Amino acid sequence: MGKKILVTGGAGFIGSNFVRLLLKEPQIEKIRILDKLTYSGSVENLENVLDNPKVSFIQGDIIDFNVSAKAISNMNWVVNFAAESHVDRSLFDPSPFMATNVEGVRVLLELSRKHKIEKFLQVSTDEVYGSIIKYAADESTPLKPSSPYSASKAAADMLCNAYFVSYNVPVIIARSSNNYGPYQYPEKLIPRFVSLTLRKDKLPLFGNGKNIRDWLYVEDNCKALLLLLQKGILGEIYNIGASELHQNIEITKSMLDILNKPYDLITHVKDRLGHDKRYCINWEKIEKLGWKPQAKFIEKFTKTINWYKKREKWLNKKTEEAEEFYSQKSSNYKVK
Ligand code: NAD
Ligand code: DAU
Repeated sequence: MGKKILVTGGAGFIGSNFVRLLLKEPQIEKIRILDKLTYSGSVENLENVLDNPKVSFIQGDIIDFNVSAKAISNMNWVVNFAAESHVDRSLFDPSPFMATNVEGVRVLLELSRKHKIEKFLQVSTDEVYGSIIKYAADESTPLKPSSPYSASKAAADMLCNAYFVSYNVPVIIARSSNNYGPYQYPEKLIPRFVSLTLRKDKLPLFGNGKNIRDWLYVEDNCKALLLLLQKGILGEIYNIGASELHQNIEITKSMLDILNKPYDLITHVKDRLGHDKRYCINWEKIEKLGWKPQAKFIEKFTKTINWYKKREKWLNKKTEEAEEFYSQKSSNYKVK
């Protein structure tokens, strides 16, 4: 029999790409999306998806017990993408991060227990390990989050483990590295810098620009997440990476090369507070389940940049909102 799946945060960047992948999967009978539509979520991200008869959409907050109860009823699987996802915003105001990323997860776990969900996949992040200066973090590396965002994600991972151990809630945790691809909100490095370049604005590279991230194509991440629903072992944690480690300055220069724009658009600005120097994860555990990233970095990176370039009008509208945050708040972090 086919599976019915609840996708929370399905109107965001990775969630909307995941729903597109699910639509190609014959095993999936029904997809219900629950999304609050915060600043980073949008039904525009679900263009050509919402009219599919397999898909239904609920606008609501995962923290709202009644709304989440309605969304979870009659489902087999739950995948939780819903989150406050931006590190810079968490440094300005951690409270919505604690609410959605911790309390929201507790509500979903509680309901998964009550409704006897068959699998609960928590979409976590490689940021929970903190900065990894040498080598690669595997799933047993101690957590050392640096930002309120990553601390909230680490707390959610702990809650998931507790619900697995104490109540047998069938949890799996996925810790992905930095995703790139279509439908990302332009507060994040790649879409932000493409947009600013097209507007002929300066590109604010934090600090010396030598921080390293592992860049994973979003479609590869989504395939890994689907595989975890199908074959992942309950109670286990899986890292998902691409071993595409690049400095921010390299990413920025390649982007400028692709857009044929000069490097003098780059401007070094004050560093992000607590800025993690390097993320690097060992993803051999999921490889053993039969997954490997398929993307050739430069090919998919170029495709991604061209995708944003073709949607300049949409990108500009989102950039106006995103830049309002950066211009008003990020240079002046407030403690609440
Ligand atoms: P995003 O900000 O693009 O999307 C988040 C979505 O969640 C939005 O649609 C938003 O409206 C929704 N949402 C927020 N609060 C909600 C709430 N209280 N109730 C219901 N919906 C709510 O984020 P993303 O980049 O797609 O990230 C998705 C998940 O993947 C997050 O959990 C994030 O921590 C994790 N992650 C992201 C990356 C990355 O590189 N983007 C890497 C690793 C892990
Ligand atoms: O590692 C996974 C994480 O990747 C996810 O858990 C987060 O949800 C996601 O936002 C992302 O976090 P980062 O902080 O790594 O992504 P961001 O795009 O904000 O920044 C990437 C790098 O680029 C980081 O070193 C900071 C730098 N940067 C970012 C922006 C937006 C700049 O130098 N200038 C910028 O304007």
